[in-house]
Amino acid sequence: MTKFVVTGGNRLQGCVRISGSKNSTLALMFAAALGKDDVVLTNIPLNSDVKTVAEILKSIGVRVDFEGQSVIINGKDITNHQPPYELVRRIRASIYTVGLLLGRLGLADVAMPGGDEIGTRPVDLHMRGFQTLGAEVSIEHGQMVCKSLGLRGATYYVNKVSVGATINMMLAAALAEGTTIIDNPAKEPEVVDCAILLNSMGAKIRGAGTASIKIEGVQSLHGCEHTPIPDRIEAGTFMIAAAATGGDVQVSNVITEHLRMVISKLRETGAEIIEGDNDIRVISNHRLKTVDVDTGVYPGFATDLQAPFGVLLSQAEGTGIICETVFDNRFRYIDELRRMGADIKVERDTAIFRGVERLSGAPVVATDIRAGVALVIAGMMAEGVTEVSGISHIERGYERFDEKLKDLGADLARVSESLEEVKA
Ligand code: UD1
Repeated sequence: MTKFVVTGGNRLQGCVRISGSKNSTLALMFAAALGKDDVVLTNIPLNSDVKTVAEILKSIGVRVDFEGQSVIINGKDITNHQPPYELVRRIRASIYTVGLLLGRLGLADVAMPGGDEIGTRPVDLHMRGFQTLGAEVSIEHGQMVCKSLGLRGATYYVNKVSVGATINMMLAAALAEGTTIIDNPAKEPEVVDCAILLNSMGAKIRGAGTASIKIEGVQSLHGCEHTPIPDRIEAGTFMIAAAATGGDVQVSNVITEHLRMVISKLRETGAEIIEGDNDIRVISNHRLKTVDVDTGVYPGFATDLQAPFGVLLSQAEGTGIICETVFDNRFRYIDELRRMGADIKVERDTAIFRGVERLSGAPVVATDIRAGVALVIAGMMAEGVTEVSGISHIERGYERFDEKLKDLGADLARVSESLEEVKA
């Protein structure tokens, strides 16, 4: 077991290059396996979720070869419709196996992802979508079992905006017979990225990123090369970390349009933001002001940035309110933050932050990916030493997070339980 030991007080300074999007890459790997030719994904982030998806794909017969920062995926030999539970249960994105298998084999038997640390995470919207395309869907012994003698295009109005259900529908419908329309789809950039890859493979998908997506099913898909979009959540994390530590950081390899809400909210706190073509500089050299934030679906404030932003608010001047509208249990980091001296009151989906002068370092536990990076940011802001355990969560979604922070001047070490420093 390793943990990060963070000594607070250093301003982050310098330049950080953002990796390819984790959430995009997970979806793109499943999409790539829908065809029977090689699909090359370049500049992918090499984090543990990507490696888990590779294992899941291999378990159903997909060839997956990593070459440096690229991965080559070939779904020609998919035969197994039952990926093992011990792989599937590790990540929520394993639900995309169902769309892939239904599209390719008309058969899927995949363990249901459970609720997890950020709240209950039902899959009803995915199931209804597959049923709309004509599949028989049932839950048997904790497995989602889907059968179809051939999916047929249909119109599906998605009751609640869902990134996962939208992508799963695109996967299943790309090779279905006829035209599928997804009304009220998620408009997140990762959905658009997935549609772009599928279209490069020969799919006919129009309207991704708008209020309605139209998919004309095709007979087969072919190979191509694709680079995922930059990770807007990683970019937002470093922007917030720069502002929260009173730093001056150039965040490079970003699409600024994907970061409008973070840019606006950081400006409201008093941080200076200078926008370039594909980089953003964040400068802050005085105490920030608190602001109110409601998380929401894109282009609203990303729920994945709620915890890092909450940490920033905990030391800002005044009282700020965060309303978490997407997930029902995403304030667990707050208990840890209180141990560091933060003054925060939580009532259902709302957290009220009364900014304190200075957090103080303490041992804390990361409960999910974003809570983990948020607590590391808290450690950099705090007086003294903060030990963040549970860092395997961080490594699920961030590539070289500690190295990138150290390059910016953070005082951070990766240590084993015996407090002996280990090599990164
Ligand atoms: C994806 C992202 C996650 C991000 C989230 C919201 C990946 C791997 N994960 O998760 O980082 O925080 O989008 O931007 O890309 N819901 C239902 N029924 C369903 C499906 C979802 O009620 O069948 C609800 C969820 O409980 C949640 C909301 O819809 O309240 C949004 O979830 P969704 O967009 O599906 O999130 P994910 O795709 O799981």
